[in-house]
Amino acid sequence: MKKRAVITIDGPAGAGKTSIAKIVSRKLGYNYIDTGAMYRAISWKAFREKIDLKAKEKLIKMVRNTKIELKNRAGMVRVYLDGKDITNKIRGKRLAEGASILATVPEVREQLMKIQRRMGSSGGIVVEGRDIGTVVFPRADYKFYLDASIKERALRKYRELKVKGEEGQLAELEKAIRSRDKRDRTRGVAPLKIAPDAVVIDSTDMSKKEVVEFILKRIQ
Ligand code: DC
Repeated sequence: MKKRAVITIDGPAGAGKTSIAKIVSRKLGYNYIDTGAMYRAISWKAFREKIDLKAKEKLIKMVRNTKIELKNRAGMVRVYLDGKDITNKIRGKRLAEGASILATVPEVREQLMKIQRRMGSSGGIVVEGRDIGTVVFPRADYKFYLDASIKERALRKYRELKVKGEEGQLAELEKAIRSRDKRDRTRGVAPLKIAPDAVVIDSTDMSKKEVVEFILKRIQ
């Protein structure tokens, strides 16, 4: 395996990118970069400051004046916004939807991409998101595209939110995921798609352990 490699994992909502990237990075002693958390952090700030997500100029100005940091601490990733730890505040449905909407704005993406590239400049990272293998790190050493059926992804999100105390209807969640996926796949800039050199993993019938083993085997 290449030393201090850049490993990318892209895929739609609920495919398991976050849990898999966390485990793989821990096993390799790498840093983990959750780019979705950056979009969610901006979404959180926009809601908090009552910035209309359609007010692009305001949004762009806010992003340019916001400091976002991801810190790896004892195998956990903490998200800091303007110096404040907001890790536990950004997981809900509403913020995910907001993140997907503001992610369609090219200038917002540009700003976050700068941070992502800086964080990954010396390698030794597992980065997950929607455009990582295609746009952010097109020359990454190992690329994966993690997918699962829509039913399975909705179920995973349902369980994840339940653990965090956010109740929801499964059917409603499936609808929200479908609409978010559609927006993420059809936006004009950096849409979610499979990089030509990515290894596609359909994790519908796989356990987390199996996915992790599959990835580690491919790269070692
Ligand atoms: O991975 P996630 O569910 O936390 O991401 C939330 C939203 O952020 C996702 O629906 C689209 C956007 N996003 C993006 O556009 N590009 C990325 N690299 C990561 C996330």
